[in-house]
Amino acid sequence: MKNALKKKLVVLTGAGISAESGMSTFRDADGLWNNYRVEDVATPEGFSRNPQLVLDFYNSLHRSLQTLKPNYGHIGLVELEEFFDVRVITQNVDNLHEAAGSKKVLHLHGELTKYASVKYPDWPHDWPFDTDLRLGDMADDGSQKRPYIVWFGEGVPNIELAAEWTREADIFLVIGTSLAVYPAAGLLGYVGADVPVFLIDPKPVKSPYKHAITVIQKGASEGMSDLIDIFKRNYILKD
Ligand code: APR
Repeated sequence: MKNALKKKLVVLTGAGISAESGMSTFRDADGLWNNYRVEDVATPEGFSRNPQLVLDFYNSLHRSLQTLKPNYGHIGLVELEEFFDVRVITQNVDNLHEAAGSKKVLHLHGELTKYASVKYPDWPHDWPFDTDLRLGDMADDGSQKRPYIVWFGEGVPNIELAAEWTREADIFLVIGTSLAVYPAAGLLGYVGADVPVFLIDPKPVKSPYKHAITVIQKGASEGMSDLIDIFKRNYILKD
């Protein structure tokens, strides 16, 4: 079936969808923000205060990408592309949606597979897996190389396109995010009033919006197979 005829399934994912692949979340008990202070490693002030600490933090996350594999949470979204025009909006900086084969992925908070520069933080360059970013490594513009990550306090250039995708959604799916961070969490405010919303998360997640949400309170992989069963009954086999 041509994409234009398929329902638009827009998905907002967070760190939880990559948890079963071995990527730490941020706010769970063993989350990254329990071992690092956000202000030290995820703000421009932290980078100017101690750039080596920040480079070490992102170099280790970047190296870990080589061992991570997508789980069924990522893979199920690719399988759904046969029946839906699937558009993934992710807060994650890993490349697991791309590795699983998702065709439309929009990163809100940057990408670990890319670096930028202090002068042009929004200009991505491929960051080869086997290299670290070192203090003194200059980009072509002559300024220090930095991770292509949106730090707290920095703009989220892709939020407008993400809001456009969300407004166009026929079905909206949330997987593995605590909805604690804006503007990402605010995307729910762009979901049409009569658009069905589904949420996969092993823990209860508070949404500040009043949509009736179908909650699958499971991990990403198991939750995805339950979701596909629901979609088969309600959308796929009915066409
Ligand atoms: N499957 C699905 N969801 C899971 C799993 C799992 N196996 N394990 C944990 N989760 C859920 C948690 O219950 C929680 O709701 O994933 C969510 C992770 O929430 P956070 O750690 O807050 O991560 P996220 O919502 O992606 O954070 C948003 O905050 O620090 C910033 O830039 C960072 O992009 C990040 C943003």
